[in-house]
Parts: sequence; structure tokens; C-alpha cells
Amino acid sequence: MNRVYFGDNLPVLQSLPSESGALIYIDPPFNTGKAQSRAQIKTVRDAEGDRTGFQGRRYKTIRLGARAFADNFGKDFVAFLEPRLREAHRILAPNGSLYFHIDYREVHYCKILLDEIFGRECFLNEIIWAYDYGARTKKKWPPKHDNILWYAKNPNDYIFNVDAIERIPYMAPGLVGPEKAARGKLPTDTWWHTIVSPTGKEKTGYPTQKPVAILKRIIAASSHPGDTVLDFFAGSGTTGEAAFQLGRKFILVDNNKQAIAVMRKRLASVPGLKFITA
Ligand SMILES: C[S@@+](CC[C@H](N)C(=O)[O-])C[C@H]1O[C@@H](n2cnc3c(N)ncnc32)[C@H](O)[C@@H]1O
Repeated sequence: MNRVYFGDNLPVLQSLPSESGALIYIDPPFNTGKAQSRAQIKTVRDAEGDRTGFQGRRYKTIRLGARAFADNFGKDFVAFLEPRLREAHRILAPNGSLYFHIDYREVHYCKILLDEIFGRECFLNEIIWAYDYGARTKKKWPPKHDNILWYAKNPNDYIFNVDAIERIPYMAPGLVGPEKAARGKLPTDTWWHTIVSPTGKEKTGYPTQKPVAILKRIIAASSHPGDTVLDFFAGSGTTGEAAFQLGRKFILVDNNKQAIAVMRKRLASVPGLKFITA
């Protein structure tokens, strides 16, 4: 049965049976929890300070160094993710796998956490999704990619349907002969794909929507028709749409009302789809 849950994903995950999902894809909001509100400054007592506090005492403000901020930020985000990722690992089928989509600034904290939960030997790929859209800063190399970490529950037994992966054109088809050129080549761990166009027909209006083609590639490669795909940071429901198009079942979770409203519309043609308030 296809399901969409409205609510915090942790209790929903805790209610799902062990070893029941072939594939989990998640794209968590990286500025979640306390991380966003964490102050980057602190105040200390100082007679010459610029602020007045309790009982008229003077304080001065000091900026925390970038390192202190990064440490706090990383810890808060990891503390939010950890119990959810432990549940994800429990829910995965013995040959199941997790695709974890994340921003280039957070990926390193998350890799360390996932290595601990899954085991370093279960890490299969870091996929770089490269796009080319929007303004380019002139102050540093313009960042134009996301990272997707792929972990298998068992590195000796996992699904990778190499023949189901849509092939891509060769860069120099003239060099490989007409037969190979017509067949195209297997994508590597660097995926070039444009973001969801703000004016295209795929657009739902949900700000962090990911392209359905990225999800279809993941689902085609790492699950079988009829399997269940879980996305517990579902947003606009891209995973549900891709799973449905490829004949997989899906379970989606989001705690944002707007996300649920977008999914109701987007997944309206899925027969028997249930919306559940968790
Ligand atoms: C980056 S968006 C996902 C976008 C999605 N991949 C898509 O293509 O539309 C992350 C989502 O996680 C949801 N979220 C954040 N914290 C959550 C929580 N504790 N439980 C359930 N959903 C949560 C947010 O509401 C947001 O929709």
C-alpha cells in the first residue's frame, strides 16, 4: 500500500517493521533543529563592554571563531539525524540500501555518522549531482553540486540493476563506433542534470524539489518492481512520483503542511494512496 504520513518522521520510523524496505532515499533539510538559531557570538563580563546586562553589569561581545560554529552546527545536525538514521538502517531489508542526499557543506559530518551506523565497508559511492543554474559568485569557485552518499546494508549483497540504468550519450560518439554510440554509456558517479526549472512543467512550487529523473535513476538501479521505497523527508513527493512511475510502492513522511498539500495534488493519480496523520 502506498502511504503519505504527516508528522515528525522519528515516531513514524519507529512504527515501521524491521527489514521491510528495499530502498531509502532522503534529502534532509541541512539547517534543521537548533543549528539555525545557534548564536555565532557570545558575551563575557567586561567593565569596558558594549552591552549592559543584569544589574547593570557590562559585557562585551565576542565573535565565535568559524571552527566553534562549525563544531556546534555539525553536532546539532548529527544529533538530529542520528536516531532517524539508526531507524532507517533497522528498516532496510538485508539487501537494501540508503541514498543520502546532502549539501556539500554538511556531507563530511554525515559521512562519519553513516560510517558509524552502517560500517565503513558498506559505503559504496559518493555521487556528485552537478548542475549549472543560477548566479555565479566571483569570490570563489561557484558551488554547483550536491552530494549523494550510497550505503548498502550488506556490501556483499545489494541491488544494482546495471541493465536498468538509462544510458547517456558519449561525449565524442565519433570515437567509439556507431553501435556503441547508439547504445550510449553507463553514467559514472558524477551526474550532470539540470535542477527543476522554475518555469518547467515538473515544478510543483515546493522550494527544495529535486528532479524526478535523479530519483528514477536511483530507484531503477537499487530496487526491483514491487519493492517499497521510503523517503522520510519527502517534501514535494518526488520519490513517490518516481517510484510510482517505475512500478514500486512508496512510503513518504513530511512534517510540513505545505509539503502534504503539494503531494496530495502531485500524487492524485496513484490509486488507493492513503494520507495518514501520524
Ligand atoms: C529538502 S526537503 C525535501 C525535498 C524533496 N526531496 C523533494 O524533491 O521535494 C526536506 C523536507 O524534510 C521535511 N522535514 C524536516 N524535518 C522533518 C521531520 N522531523 N519529520 C518529517 N519531515 C521533516 C521538511 O518539511 C522538508 O519538506
